[in-house]
Amino acid sequence: MNKIVIANWKMNLSLRQTLDLAKKIKKGVKKFRKKGVDVVVCPSYTALSEVGEAIRKSNVKLGSQDVFWEEKGPFTSGVSSLMLKEIGCKYVIVGHSERRRYWNEDDWMVHQKVKAAIKAGLIPIICVGEKFEERKDHKKDHVIIKQVSRALEGIKIKKTDKVIVAYEPVWVIGSGQAVKPEEAEYANKVIKTRLLDLYSKKLVNENFRIIYGGSVDSKNVKGFIQQETVQGFLVGGKSLEGEEFVKIVKAVVK
Ligand code: PGA
Repeated sequence: MNKIVIANWKMNLSLRQTLDLAKKIKKGVKKFRKKGVDVVVCPSYTALSEVGEAIRKSNVKLGSQDVFWEEKGPFTSGVSSLMLKEIGCKYVIVGHSERRRYWNEDDWMVHQKVKAAIKAGLIPIICVGEKFEERKDHKKDHVIIKQVSRALEGIKIKKTDKVIVAYEPVWVIGSGQAVKPEEAEYANKVIKTRLLDLYSKKLVNENFRIIYGGSVDSKNVKGFIQQETVQGFLVGGKSLEGEEFVKIVKAVVK
């Protein structure tokens, strides 16, 4: 399976800035088209359609930063998987720690969103990871296993479905200081072991990708990509700098 690099632009850019950045990245990663890497950008809802147009027919794919689990109905402000599909989204971030923190998103909601995304044929990027206190209390593995289990439990994955699990230690996000590559590798192995409890080996190997996120930049990415189970990156801060993001993709290709 291809490696993957995902840009999470969060709530940082105006529409104009978003489009400029999308075009820059599209141009910068064009040469990696057949190099075994998937590139995804996740703008705000308000920019999804226009970014989708701007990257059409390129090797950059469109992702959303969130989704609501119902398909339609009286859910003010909700955006459904079907709506995302309709405008060309292929991926959707689910359960990001900022959603969990500021919108009180819990494991049940994450589960509903994952289910809805898969049903609609979107690829969920399920974010899991421990907070600093949980780490201090030696609960890291427990938290990761619980989040993965609750997000996926009971969900059937068909041969055509794809799922991404992103290990994102919450305390590292936006800090400028990533964990050591060996730590990401360890957490990814914990995730993989849990996935193997839930699904067949073939399915886990062929339909799941486990990636790392948290202060990834064009320098530290080189250490992470050498790890056996790290199959890509979810990039926040450094995805806002076009050249830097392209450098990260380049490091993954090498
Ligand atoms: P960061 O964000 O790269 O700025 O740490 C990662 C994320 O929130 O997905």
